[in-house]
Amino acid sequence: MATSVGAVALANPVMAASGTFGYGLDLIDLCPPERLGAVVSKGLSPQPRPGNPTPRIVETAAGMINAIGLQNVGVEAFCRDALPLLRERGAVVAVNVFGARMEEYLEVIARCERETGVAAYELNVSCPNVTAGGMEFGHDPALLETLTRRCREATGRPLWVKLSPNAPDLVATARAAVAGGADALTLINTVRAMAIDAAARRPVLANGCGGLSGPAVKPIALRMVWEVHRALPEVPLVGIGGVETGRDAAEFLLAGASAVQVGTAIFRDPAAPLRIVAELERFCEAQGIADVRELIGGLQWR
Ligand SMILES: Cc1cc2nc3c(=O)[nH]c(=O)nc-3n(C[C@H](O)[C@H](O)[C@H](O)COP(=O)(O)O)c2cc1C
Repeated sequence: MATSVGAVALANPVMAASGTFGYGLDLIDLCPPERLGAVVSKGLSPQPRPGNPTPRIVETAAGMINAIGLQNVGVEAFCRDALPLLRERGAVVAVNVFGARMEEYLEVIARCERETGVAAYELNVSCPNVTAGGMEFGHDPALLETLTRRCREATGRPLWVKLSPNAPDLVATARAAVAGGADALTLINTVRAMAIDAAARRPVLANGCGGLSGPAVKPIALRMVWEVHRALPEVPLVGIGGVETGRDAAEFLLAGASAVQVGTAIFRDPAAPLRIVAELERFCEAQGIADVRELIGGLQWR
């Protein structure tokens, strides 16, 4: 079941996704982080953030919409309280980073550079850039390339860029991240969405809109992984979006991902990532696949 995302070796291809597994320790009894390929932290900013007003999560027919607003404890508290415990348990940790300005990304990375036990940084670029008038970093290839390059210069550790499905040109943004020095791409983040309470004539979420995740987005995510893999076959990809079963994980690997992340499924089944590892292993056995890496990019088409 071992795989790797570039230089990051993973015991299995299943990670817990950013924002759905706390800081890697909240679900420790149900889903020990060291038994997963890796855990990705909630997005960290230099200072703690309270996030958006509630309600900020709503269930939909095939997933959920969230507008958490990047609530987090701040990088200092993460390094002080969570990282040492994750390190002690031998978990592979990717730190998810975001900011409203480029300098904030660099501040988070600089703080984590003082720590051991960080296997990779994952840049969440679905954040409005205050200095570029609210334009999301991930929506402008030139901006994204600059952000990635500046982060690249700040660390020798593996750098993953998490792409937004809402960007006007996915492949252009993927190329820009790679040109800036990304070692791998994670895709996808949530899809911009809305829920309405007809009786109240109001949006359900206090924020109005939010990001859709879960099974509803899986076909979109699969198509995006496949498109980016075909355009950039040498670049390691991490597939994410609606992975609920081992078979879903196999689909992402076939589309070109080297590993997957599990997010929304954890809300229904906190041990989902572990179950998915076991299901993927059984799928491989049933298919006569000795090494899970055989699946990566193995889609047969034409
Ligand atoms: C409640 C919630 C919080 C999230 N927080 C973050 C975050 O802090 N940083 C980030 O990059 N993605 C965040 N995401 C996006 C997920 O990591 C993932 O990309 C998305 O939910 C699609 O995967 P899924 O369908 O398996 O949930 C969040 C998703 C949810 C549902």
